Amino acid sequence: MKFFVDTAEVSDIRALAEAGLVDGVTTNPSLIAKSGRNMAEVIREICSITPGPVSAEVTATDFDTMLAEGRYLRDLAPNVAVKVPLTEAGLRTCRALANEGTPVNVTLCFSAAQALLAAKAGAAFISPFVGRLDDISTDGMTLIADIVQIYRNYPQLKTEVLVASVRHPMHLVQAAKLGAHVATLPPGVIRQLLKHPLTDSGLAAFLADWKKTGQSIL
Ligand code: G3P
Repeated sequence: MKFFVDTAEVSDIRALAEAGLVDGVTTNPSLIAKSGRNMAEVIREICSITPGPVSAEVTATDFDTMLAEGRYLRDLAPNVAVKVPLTEAGLRTCRALANEGTPVNVTLCFSAAQALLAAKAGAAFISPFVGRLDDISTDGMTLIADIVQIYRNYPQLKTEVLVASVRHPMHLVQAAKLGAHVATLPPGVIRQLLKHPLTDSGLAAFLADWKKTGQSIL
């Protein structure tokens, strides 16, 4: 399973990339706003840290402007994936960019029917938002199971399922069990994945015993 990092914070991406945990990055207008940085500048910098796809999202809502924005974003770096919302104009933009060889991430997906449309429009990635479905008492993981099953039924569809709006470690574990291709994870969730109380207590015991030996490795 590929891990993308869902952030525009360069320091987090750099640290996680050094641990080999970054296969790509996703951003959105809210994350760019949170970073407080110029979009083009931060996307270029992120693209220089990871060779994997870096999603940069259009902000227009009409087809012509969306396509122009998508082309602009694509030209920022060779590993940009253009992100478009799951609207009719977004799917037209997706098809046009895909025909030009640009990978497109179709975002804000909340139903299996939407995911099927995105695949037919040539999306490289579909981003179903599991946490936001859970927020409204609808099981986000059922949507992942449905999309994975539908895409498997039609091997000619090459779209990868990119699980987004991941809020906690169990979202990741469940998505991996279902065979989703990618999960995009906020840095905080990646750090939560590391944690286990038995790791902490085991390490503390090893270090206490080591201290009694009076030795040092170096
Ligand atoms: O990249 C979009 C997505 O992951 C949003 O997550 O937590 O704002 O629903 P969240």
